[in-house]
Amino acid sequence: MANEAILFVSVWRGAERGRFVDYEIPRGGHQTVLDAVTHIQRHVDPTLAYRFACRVGMCGSCAMTVNGVPRWTCRTRVDKVAKDGRLELAPLKNLPVIKDLTVDMESFFNKVRRAEGAFVPAGDTPGDFAAVPPASRPRTLADAAIECIGCGVCYSACDVVAWNRDYLGPAALNRAWTLVNDVRDAGNAARLRAVAGDAGCHACHTHQSCRTWCPKSLNPTASIAGLKRATARAAMRGRL
Ligand code: SF4
Ligand code: SF4
Ligand code: FES
Repeated sequence: MANEAILFVSVWRGAERGRFVDYEIPRGGHQTVLDAVTHIQRHVDPTLAYRFACRVGMCGSCAMTVNGVPRWTCRTRVDKVAKDGRLELAPLKNLPVIKDLTVDMESFFNKVRRAEGAFVPAGDTPGDFAAVPPASRPRTLADAAIECIGCGVCYSACDVVAWNRDYLGPAALNRAWTLVNDVRDAGNAARLRAVAGDAGCHACHTHQSCRTWCPKSLNPTASIAGLKRATARAAMRGRL
C-alpha cells in the first residue's frame, strides 16, 4: 500500500539521452505537480532544469509529460494524476530536449509564424479601436479558439507531428483559424495559402488528441476542420 506522506517522483535527467532519476519528497495538501518539481529543485537537487513563470495557468511555460500524458503542471493536482503515490515526469514529446524537463519551443513558435499567425491590420483601420460587439457572430467565431496560452500540450499529444516534423500542428492551425475569423484582420489570402499545403490543415487525421489534452478546453480539431472548409472554398474560387 502506498505511503500517503511520501510522493515518489521519477524525473527525466539529461537531454535526448538521459535516464529517469528517483526522488522521494513529502506529499502535501493541494500539492501541484509543479510544486513537486520545485521542491526537488529547491531542496534536493538545484541542478534540475524546468520552466515556469505565472503558476496560475496563464503563461503556458510549465507543460511536461506527467505519467505519460502532456499537462500544464501548475494547475495539475498531484492527487489527480499520481498512480499509487508515484509520478513520472518527462519533457514534452515532439520537441527537442534542452535539459531535464525543458524543451526547445523554437520550432513550435516558428510554425505559428509559418501559419501566418500574426494579426495583419486592415489598411483602412480607423483611428479609434475597431469595435466588434461581444455578442455578435463574428466575435463569437473569433472567440472560440482565442484563449490559447501557447503551452505546446496539443503539439506534444499530436501523432501527426511525431510522424511529420514539418506539420504545422494544432496550436499554429488553431491560431490561424482565430485570425481567419477576425473581421479586423486583412491577412487571410496569405494565411489560407500558408495552411493549405502538404504540412497544413489537410494533414490532420482528426483523432482529437489535441482536443483531449488542451488544458484550456480548446478544440483545435474543430479549428482545423474550419480551415479545411475555408481552404477548399478558396481553392474552388481560384484564390489559393
Ligand atoms: S486532431 Fe489533428 S492536430 Fe489534433 S492531435 Fe489529431 S492529427 Fe493532431
Ligand atoms: S491549443 Fe490548448 S494545448 Fe494547444 S498550445 Fe493552445 S492552450 Fe496549449
Ligand atoms: S506556470 Fe504559467 S501556465 Fe503554468
